[in-house]
Amino acid sequence: MLDFVRPNILRMRGYEPGEQPQEGSVIKLNTNENPYPPSPRVLEALRQAIHGDRLRKYPDPQGRQFRETAARIFDVPPEAILIANGSDDALTIITRALVPENGEVCFPSPSYPLYETLAAIQGAACHILRFTAEGDLPAETVPRRVHLTYIPNPNSPTGTVVPRGRLQGWPTPLVIDEAYADFAEENYLHLPLKNERVIVTRSLSKSYSLAGIRFGFAVACPELTRQLYKVKDSYNCDALSLIAATAAIEDQEHMRQNVARLRATRQRVSVHLRQLGFLVPESHANFVWCVHRAHPARWLYEQLKARGILVRYLRYPETEGLRITIGTDAEMDRLLDELRRIV
Ligand SMILES: Cc1ncc(COP(=O)(O)O)c(C=O)c1O
Repeated sequence: MLDFVRPNILRMRGYEPGEQPQEGSVIKLNTNENPYPPSPRVLEALRQAIHGDRLRKYPDPQGRQFRETAARIFDVPPEAILIANGSDDALTIITRALVPENGEVCFPSPSYPLYETLAAIQGAACHILRFTAEGDLPAETVPRRVHLTYIPNPNSPTGTVVPRGRLQGWPTPLVIDEAYADFAEENYLHLPLKNERVIVTRSLSKSYSLAGIRFGFAVACPELTRQLYKVKDSYNCDALSLIAATAAIEDQEHMRQNVARLRATRQRVSVHLRQLGFLVPESHANFVWCVHRAHPARWLYEQLKARGILVRYLRYPETEGLRITIGTDAEMDRLLDELRRIV
């Protein structure tokens, strides 16, 4: 009898990450990794770190070098930046700092399932927001005394964004999850400096091709950031991830080139998928959300898997579909060829 475990932990299911096959030669389009390598500067910085004295010592718990570099590149004060072990870690820290046991959080559906997991760990209730047919979110449906609203923009799994400027006057406290913002036209990175009740989170897993390193960050007003630092693990980011992340953001040109390639592929693939009978909302991220007019999503997922192509099957109370990461042009051509045979 594990009756010493908190009841909400015993009750919850736990977050289920996408499949991560560690061997074999599947075309992996299921967890929104970038198919192109990170900046050569990252590899060079890691090489130097390994041959130097970095591994023997603890990393800088404040991540000062990353924060100063990020401050210069993103034009925010270094004191506004929280370093994190992936943006999931930033979301965890924010939730622990802001949401009390028996509190209430709010997020849209369909969206990133981790928000519900974080709420369950905290023992908080969830209020679900519904997207309108136009992809808008009605701010008036947010309960008045909510402790935190999470809004992913662009959203996962749909890839859609809320209408321009929509989150400017949104009810707070609010965390805008910008894991995919580099693939979109608009972002809210500077909003936390004007509104101390807003936090933005960013990931280096997608646009910077560093999912294996685990690094993300948050931007919040400096006073709030100081509070968040109290909650994080002392050494939440290891020495190598700090070095890799700093080198990666230094090379904005490399990141932008990869993003431009992926956006062009996304455009082309979306057109072909629609011709194959899929409903595909216009995506602003590095993946597309596909619901077929005739075939069930689970069956399509299995058909593709049997042919060596892994996509993400996702089921929500109101919808189910396939979230397909944008890979290289060759990978996407293989996907389209197989889908033509299947449907
Ligand atoms: C909406 C959203 N937020 C955050 C993350 C987490 O990214 P990271 O790898 O930085 O933890 C993901 C990853 O899939 C995501 O889809």
